[in-house]
Amino acid sequence: MKVIAVIGCGRISTKHFPALQVNENVRIKYACDIIIEKAEKAKEKYSKIENVISDYNIALNDSEVDAVYVLTPNFKHYTITMAALKAGKHVFCEKPITVNYELSLEMAKEAEKQNKMLCIGVVNRFNKAIETLRDMVKDGKFGNIYHVYCSFRSCRCIPGLGGAFTNKAESGGGVLIDWGVHFFDLVYYVLGGFKIKNITSNAYSEMAKDMKSYVYKKGTMWAEDTSDIENGVNDVDDFISGYIRTDKGSISFNGAWAQNIEDNEMFIDFLGDKGGARLSYGGNFTFFDGATITSSASDISFEPVTEFKIPDMFLQENNGFIDSITTGEKARNHIEYVLESAKLLDGLYKSSELDKEISF
Ligand SMILES: NC(=O)c1ccc[n+]([C@@H]2O[C@H](COP(=O)([O-])OP(=O)(O)OC[C@H]3O[C@@H](n4cnc5c(N)ncnc54)[C@H](O)[C@@H]3O)[C@@H](O)[C@H]2O)c1
Repeated sequence: MKVIAVIGCGRISTKHFPALQVNENVRIKYACDIIIEKAEKAKEKYSKIENVISDYNIALNDSEVDAVYVLTPNFKHYTITMAALKAGKHVFCEKPITVNYELSLEMAKEAEKQNKMLCIGVVNRFNKAIETLRDMVKDGKFGNIYHVYCSFRSCRCIPGLGGAFTNKAESGGGVLIDWGVHFFDLVYYVLGGFKIKNITSNAYSEMAKDMKSYVYKKGTMWAEDTSDIENGVNDVDDFISGYIRTDKGSISFNGAWAQNIEDNEMFIDFLGDKGGARLSYGGNFTFFDGATITSSASDISFEPVTEFKIPDMFLQENNGFIDSITTGEKARNHIEYVLESAKLLDGLYKSSELDKEISF
């Protein structure tokens, strides 16, 4: 039996609590939020939660707690994760690792020093379709993958304008660090890793320069409860475009939290000389090799059926973490395997700031 504390009871906790609730090897000793009502609300819904607290140190000082979940805004990932590791706890930390590569590296080193697991919430690695795609790449079905194109573009849906998501000091960046992190992590994982040679990018913060006059499509401003257009800050990228050369081929991409194009375009194209595939983000893919078209099974399954209906990949991600702290075997989302894509995000921001290509 593993004893868990969950720190941060906001939106993403609604994916982790149900998975922990149905795992027979888990006790949820604490739900913690600085807004205690949020932790109390979680307790009402998930019967396994034993206590609600607003100070995470109570959980860190409890010798019974084996592991903590860090589900807070990005800039708090570093402080809370470091404190938890030093207190001898395993940690599951949501993506992005933190606001930059340098601090991410420190977190990885601390986990190693304390001999504790530190897993990152790159949940798409647990999508069954991704595993199939990865196997097809390994089996040579694509031949030489010479280029990958990523599109993570949506129309006028900047999250929580003026709040933690759009304040660089708190988030580390905008659409690149929030959505791009998943896309580049997937490319890295599916290709079986790569070494970055050089990168170039341009990031823009154009669509909500005047926060008060920004118009979003009804129902599309998620994280609206964190928005603060009166006194808040918006200094992050709402559009970014770039090009990356690696030892395995090149990657080009466009990402938009907001754009004056209505369609959402969320996909990754893997272009090989024998075959290619378009992966719909969060779902399945279609593979084409000139003669045959193969579609992967959809991962939008909710099995095993639980009363809470969460996507299977979140269930697998949580079960994988509990297994890894039980067996001592690193899960596929261990920080060691996620660092290279954090380095990439950092480099892309740097290239845009300096307005030039960055070499590694
Ligand atoms: N894996 C995914 O697909 C995915 C999806 C959404 C969000 N996320 C990540 O999850 C994290 C949280 O995002 P969210 O959308 O749930 O945000 P949110 O604002 O809804 O929730 C964050 C919660 O943390 C609480 N909090 C802040 N500081 C705290 C502290 N010191 N102690 C305890 N609680 C504290 C806040 O009060 C809030 O309730 C972000 O890093 C985000 O990038 C990941």
